[in-house]
Amino acid sequence: MTKTKKLTLIKPDDWHLHVRDNKFLPSVLADTTKRFCRAIIMPNLVEPVTTTKLAGEYRDRIIDALPNEYKLTFDPLMTLYLTNNTKPSEIKTARDSGFVHAVKWYPAGATTNSSKGVSDIVACYDVLEAMAEEGMPLLIHGEVTDPDVDVFDREKQFIEQFLIGIIQNFPDLKVVFEHITTKDAVEFVKSAHANVGATITAHHLLLNRNAIFQGGIRPHHYCLPILKRELHREALIAAATSGDKKFFLGTDSAPHTKSTKESSCGCAGIYTSHGGIELYAEIFEKAGALHRLEAFASFHGPDFYGLPRNREKITLRKTPTPIVDEFTFGDEVCVPFRAGGQLTWSID
Ligand code: NCD
Ligand code: ZN
Repeated sequence: MTKTKKLTLIKPDDWHLHVRDNKFLPSVLADTTKRFCRAIIMPNLVEPVTTTKLAGEYRDRIIDALPNEYKLTFDPLMTLYLTNNTKPSEIKTARDSGFVHAVKWYPAGATTNSSKGVSDIVACYDVLEAMAEEGMPLLIHGEVTDPDVDVFDREKQFIEQFLIGIIQNFPDLKVVFEHITTKDAVEFVKSAHANVGATITAHHLLLNRNAIFQGGIRPHHYCLPILKRELHREALIAAATSGDKKFFLGTDSAPHTKSTKESSCGCAGIYTSHGGIELYAEIFEKAGALHRLEAFASFHGPDFYGLPRNREKITLRKTPTPIVDEFTFGDEVCVPFRAGGQLTWSID
């Protein structure tokens, strides 16, 4: 069999992305817009995006910061940050805006800028009801926050403690289990009804938890949910490359400054937008599933969200591209995934 050297596909979308705000936006948007037509923009700013009004203002700042060539074509798909005080009426406002496409549930304290998240999901049931009615997807950071639960078990526990119940109580609610990291999550999503989908990051497909401790502590491999054992990574690869339409691309590219990563209490998050599609091509090629990359990256997401598929195309080539050691991020620097190494695929 000859090896594929060139691959043309419908330009993908990123169904889970952090671009931060203000001076940081231009530093990361060029990488995303080159590879993706649309991206689901996470609302976990320092002051979270809790209303449609705030989402509209944030969207304007993103559009202002876009590279000129993508100003008219890149579509930031905005999300709202669910809190204990979100009103059901806000969901109707969000739907009517046309630019809010989902609501994100961060269990309070689960990850970066989640302290204002939900401490009691039952108090939000009226909002979830409104979301089911409006066809507004719920995006879930699926980890329990109990400090007594082992950090590697928090996703599995979340399925048992919360997810099963939510899905039973709201069968019409579209739910995306974000950045899944375990075999348990894969099995749960596969067995759930068709309104349940999941995003999978490139870093969880490429690395297992040994990468956090390889020859010393590696802050740039620290993200949440934390990397898991090899058997979980293998289950994620099987799911992503299976062709199952419940699984789709979401980079969870999450830039932090070098100084906040390389610290005695470093931030969680890995920047991968510079290889936002190339890293997945590497994974799919290794799994002998390059023919399924386009569906995972460009079809399953819009189909799940009920949005049209893109029409523009991109071409990938099996040409190695070097990765910088760091890049300017606002007035500081950020260390990208695989800094100083290379991408095995490149984009035209
Ligand atoms: C994300 C961030 O930095 O905003 N961090 C991460 O490790 N993935 C938040 C998140 O998605 O959990
Ligand atoms: Zn995220």
